[in-house]
Amino acid sequence: MSPTPKSGRFITLEGGEGVGKSTLARGLADALSGDGCDVVVTREPGGAPGAVAIRALLVQGDAGRWDAMEEALLFAAARRNHLTHTIRPALARGAWVICDRYYDSTRAYQVAAGGLDPVALDALNALIEAPRPDLTFVLDFAPEAGLERSQGRNLGEDRFERKAADFHARVRAEFLAIAAREPQRCVVLDAGQSAADVLKQARTELEARS
Ligand code: TMP
Repeated sequence: MSPTPKSGRFITLEGGEGVGKSTLARGLADALSGDGCDVVVTREPGGAPGAVAIRALLVQGDAGRWDAMEEALLFAAARRNHLTHTIRPALARGAWVICDRYYDSTRAYQVAAGGLDPVALDALNALIEAPRPDLTFVLDFAPEAGLERSQGRNLGEDRFERKAADFHARVRAEFLAIAAREPQRCVVLDAGQSAADVLKQARTELEARS
């Protein structure tokens, strides 16, 4: 995976709450832009106007306002909107897309932690023709420490953060399980390191895959 201007790739960043995904996204984008690449940094749920409107429904309000199936349907609608308006056009012109969360988050939060049948998620991914990321960085960090970091940062956007400790433990375990199942696509990074060290390791992995 050579970071040359005309060789865009789809990179996703995954992990629990407060693991440093947005900091890594900015760091990778700066590095790739410095190499002359066209880079789009985006996030889910969000990244396009319709998806941003759906985001508010998902991350605000009472923890019990949606069940896992309802959440998965809303995330899938937001994802389709994001793919159509932002991700596919960027990849088509050769840009690098760095996306903070994607379908592995649905597998961790709605399937593993929320109890949704994995077959339902596979069907939704097929229905919206969700492309497989070229590379996924899984940032791993103890949920209690991550939640402490993220607390108060996203005012009013804490619907998932307010879920119980065992929910967040299942989220973490599933991200590690996904990475173990798909070692070609996924790289686990220890998010307990400094942000600079996490970025350095991510860049080394990117270069190793060129
Ligand atoms: P953020 O805090 O990283 O912006 O993400 C918003 C919340 O949405 C976060 O708590 C994780 C959750 N989420 C899911 O539960 N399933 C998904 O598919 C995605 C993309 C996010």
